[in-house]
Amino acid sequence: MNGNSLSIIDNRTGRSYELPITDGTIRAMDLRQIKSLNDDFGLMSYDPGLSNTASTRSAITFVDGERGILRYRGYPIEELAERSSYLETAYLVIFGELPTAAQLATWECEISRHSLLHTNIVELIEAFRYDGHPMSVFISAIASLSTLYPDSRRVVDPVNRRLQVERIIAKAATIGAFTYRHNQGMPFNHPDDELSYIGNLLRMMFRMTEAKYRPNPVLERALNILFILHADHEQNCGTNAMRVIGSSQADPYSALAGAAAALYGPLHGAANEAVLLQLEEIGSPSKVGAFIESVKREERRLMGFGHRVYKSYDPRCRIIKRVAEEVFEVTGRNPLVDVALELERIALQDDYFVSRKLYPNVDFYSGLIYRAMKLPSSLFTVMFAIPRSCGWVAHWLEMLTDPEQKLSRPRQIYSGSPERSYVPVGERRPSPAPDAPGA
Ligand code: ACO
Repeated sequence: MNGNSLSIIDNRTGRSYELPITDGTIRAMDLRQIKSLNDDFGLMSYDPGLSNTASTRSAITFVDGERGILRYRGYPIEELAERSSYLETAYLVIFGELPTAAQLATWECEISRHSLLHTNIVELIEAFRYDGHPMSVFISAIASLSTLYPDSRRVVDPVNRRLQVERIIAKAATIGAFTYRHNQGMPFNHPDDELSYIGNLLRMMFRMTEAKYRPNPVLERALNILFILHADHEQNCGTNAMRVIGSSQADPYSALAGAAAALYGPLHGAANEAVLLQLEEIGSPSKVGAFIESVKREERRLMGFGHRVYKSYDPRCRIIKRVAEEVFEVTGRNPLVDVALELERIALQDDYFVSRKLYPNVDFYSGLIYRAMKLPSSLFTVMFAIPRSCGWVAHWLEMLTDPEQKLSRPRQIYSGSPERSYVPVGERRPSPAPDAPGA
């Protein structure tokens, strides 16, 4: 018997099998040989939410959820947050290595060159109701880029892929900023290539009548750090969506719109918006105790707490908390910070949260920074999607060039009706409404 293998006895048949173990995994397809009858389909694994399924090999991001470690391409997130710029980190995440000075200059120049939006996209953004949710506008505008760049469907061409990657990183920021300006009923500020990526984003969002807008360096640094922290997070829901859609060889704009749509859910990237709304609802530190009790009665979830992978403190949250203090020095302290601190303090000493390993995640404090910058909470998830675009394209590139990857198409356990004959409409009995199973 091989030491690096798993022995299985199928008690239905008495047969035994030996499955190789590689990198702490067995191959799901190796289970197929395990059959109760020679002509049955073979054994599958059942994993709703894919909690214990590795769907790919990936060299991009390392997360150790038990020890609270996050690294991009081997570099600790703390070092990148302290020393790198968002565009430099994006290059690292996408291409695998930190750029040389010349590579970085070229990359920055390419991104700047692609930052303008075609007037069709500008008109599209303007066509939405001013108070349409910014994430819906962002997703639609991103998807629409495929109408302008039909060449993006040639996903097998590496030169073409690189061009689309540059367009995505550049235009995600402009679309995000224009989405905000439309939401506020303000005219658009077109990109200015004298500024950094982050400085330019701040300008596109906040420039009013100044001829020369200069971003506040503290806010620029804070946003730079937030963008680095959000750049990638391995196989999360949005990234998985990017890979699944991309696996059909759909163009990257369509895939990225799908990834952004996944991010839009409150259990994922829209948690930052939900946290702020929750803090506003609680209103004061004195009301935190009662709120925590309602969470423990499972009437609601404490948004910004808990993570599928982190079972100790989310390292991004620690950095964001520090950055928040720096931002508040400039913008003034939002009283909701005290509500957040009290929530964290009480939750971290309550057995309900401790026993379930529920700690603040990346979304718990980021919204407070965005609110301090005067952004509406509905824009917070857009501020997550812009930098996460870099992780999405990195995974898209990795997936397309991985010879093991194929069309993503899981199996199911069919639990519906056995075969039955069509009944003419006049002979049918009433049945429960289709959206109320078990009613
Ligand atoms: N508040 C209260 N209880 C919680 C929370 C929470 N935020 N999160 C998990 N739990 C409880 C569950 O009720 C469950 O309890 P039980 O064992 O008694 O049934 C237990 O903890 C495990 O929860 P699961 O939902 O099984 O854990 P899962 O890994 O599927 O969930 C998730 C992870 C979705 C992030 C969850 O923690 C959650 O809903 N958090 C709030 C939303 C949030 O902040 N999302 C952002 C995540 S970070 C990101 O996506 C960028």
